[in-house]
Amino acid sequence: MTTNSAASNVVWHNATVTRARRESQNVHRGAIIWFTGLSGSGKSTLAHAVEEALYQRGCHTFVLDGDNVRHGLCGDLGFSAEDRVENIRRIGEMAKLFMEAGVIVLTAFISPYRADRKKVRGLVEHGDFIEIYCDTSIDICESRDVKGLYKKARAGQISEFTGITSPYEIPEKPELDVNTGTGELNSCVQQVLTEMTQRGIINNISVNV
Ligand code: ADX
Repeated sequence: MTTNSAASNVVWHNATVTRARRESQNVHRGAIIWFTGLSGSGKSTLAHAVEEALYQRGCHTFVLDGDNVRHGLCGDLGFSAEDRVENIRRIGEMAKLFMEAGVIVLTAFISPYRADRKKVRGLVEHGDFIEIYCDTSIDICESRDVKGLYKKARAGQISEFTGITSPYEIPEKPELDVNTGTGELNSCVQQVLTEMTQRGIINNISVNV
């Protein structure tokens, strides 16, 4: 096993309870459902609504949310390009652990850089990483301004704000592009569940019961 560990003399220990064995106890397989989009685009709302639907169907799920993770694991990071890269690297590694535990992990981070999203995709097998673009114009995000951050960014009180003074790189080929700007939440949830079914993460029975 090759790693980028900075520590020497560390040896990988293989588990006897493997991902496949864990998954055999579930009605679904593990996966990373990666929501990306501007602040206020509806990533968290959609991730939690999908989680609720999955939970009600007996799936094991967990949502990793930008604002929450930045209170703990990534509490030492700000919003410079460098810090955002590190933020997504940590989240990617953590999401992979959840997935290997057999969980459907739903992540809600702006994750503005294509290269970082690609790196996370590359951490796991093909089909384990589902990128979902929460497609909402900046005008809609700004008109929502749930946290009042756009107003502050326009007033120059927040620097490096995504979409205003910091870039957001739109996904070129996400598995799913969801209109979270004007689409109904239920319809967005259904689109995600359908995508997950088509990709064999959940089955029809777990969707329709
Ligand atoms: S990311 O760019 O590193 O992926 P992340 O999703 O963790 O960002 O955090 C984004 C959240 O932090 C936003 O929803 C917003 O509430 C808050 N935030 C505070 N400052 C900024 C900023 N400069 N740019 C974007 N979001 C910010």
